[in-house]
Amino acid sequence: MQRLGTVPPLPIARGEGVWLHDYAGARYFDANSSWWVNLFGHADARINAALREQLETLPHVMLAGCTHAPAVELAERLRAMTGGVLGHAFYASDGASAVEIALKMSFHAWRNLGRSDKREFVCLRQGYHGETLGALAVTDVAVFRDAYDPLLMRAHLVMSPDARQALPGESAADVAARALADVRALFEARHEHIAAVIVEPLVQCAAGMALHDAAYLRGLRALCDAFDVHLIADEIAVGCGRTGSFFAFEQAALPGEAPLWPDFVCLSKGISGGYLPLSLVLTRDAIYEVFLDDDVARGFLHSHSYTGNALACRAALAVLDRFAEDDVLARNRATAPLLSTALAPLGDDARIEHLRHTGMIWAFDVRADVAGERFAERFHLAGRDNGLLIRPIGHTVYLMPPYLLDAELAQWLATQTLTTLEQTLANRPRNSRPDADRAPEPATA
Ligand SMILES: Cc1ncc(COP(=O)(O)O)c(C=O)c1O
Repeated sequence: MQRLGTVPPLPIARGEGVWLHDYAGARYFDANSSWWVNLFGHADARINAALREQLETLPHVMLAGCTHAPAVELAERLRAMTGGVLGHAFYASDGASAVEIALKMSFHAWRNLGRSDKREFVCLRQGYHGETLGALAVTDVAVFRDAYDPLLMRAHLVMSPDARQALPGESAADVAARALADVRALFEARHEHIAAVIVEPLVQCAAGMALHDAAYLRGLRALCDAFDVHLIADEIAVGCGRTGSFFAFEQAALPGEAPLWPDFVCLSKGISGGYLPLSLVLTRDAIYEVFLDDDVARGFLHSHSYTGNALACRAALAVLDRFAEDDVLARNRATAPLLSTALAPLGDDARIEHLRHTGMIWAFDVRADVAGERFAERFHLAGRDNGLLIRPIGHTVYLMPPYLLDAELAQWLATQTLTTLEQTLANRPRNSRPDADRAPEPATA
């Protein structure tokens, strides 16, 4: 709040494709897809048309005692995309509310099974799951949680599989194995009390795009099976094709082996294409069935007024249509190398560490001794001058563009990012000191 004088909000008048236009006529490439929600650019013609039609038909009706075609169709299409394994969808609005639902549903399912001692949750170091009290309790980002810590339920923290922690000679899979050993030790001691573990599959985004090996997900699934613990995949940021597959967890199984699925998937952000707030929790039929009871208190009661909003569901259906009509996953596989190639010079830059990429996410860390104070803020402001809306997390610069890259846009985006980096590092404040020990500037600030 105090920095608003130095970093005034950009007044955005309109959006078109990857571009956001301000009132003065300048345009900015939305390099982080407006907090990772916008998959197909702003004001996409096909999503707009679907919404117009829905607006004329049914904008909203409560999902208590009523239902409507977009909610049903969306649940059915997502079910089919999990091979029928996650057969039920519970609707909410924002990502954090989906996390609340998954935590409550896990605890309540165990309780209905006569195992009410299973009431503890496990989360990963540097994980982020949202900022309502339940979601914050399983979040390990100090800047968001510290002020509220006295209010929060206690969760078990286990090692992050972040591949950047590799010791000399260690691979990302070795780091994953170490992190899994930490989970195993906890499960051996406490599994009778543990309801669920929550994980951001493949990328801990708010931690600064911390990538991990898919072996971690495979191992976590096996441990959860062995110790009777639910596995919650928070795909709010990494779902909807961001890591290359529609669900990130699809990459858990080895090629050619049977697919692996979590017990709950939380989806939000990209599912409604950056148009309207929508989230949902997918779960297995077996979990759904433990709530079927004449006693209403054994049912799953959790309501939000806008649950399953028809416009938001219709936007999500238009997003799924986009994936199918344009074979978006294949298109992204073809266009991602354009940006990787254009960013390749960073690989030889001694000021940079951990240049990394998966799916439609690119990131690199600027070394603490060269970044200087308020690196993220300086980079963001320099980005504006170069036509970029970009917001580093601490010293991590990342690109999470809409799925609209082509050769020209990829080259432009890389060039502007490299220019912004040069200007930011050339423009270090006087008496600047390394700020490695400062609280990271948050993704969501
Ligand atoms: C992995 C993850 N979970 C949950 C959330 C919270 O979503 P929302 O901001 O919609 O509450 C986020 C938001 O960044 C996220 O990245």
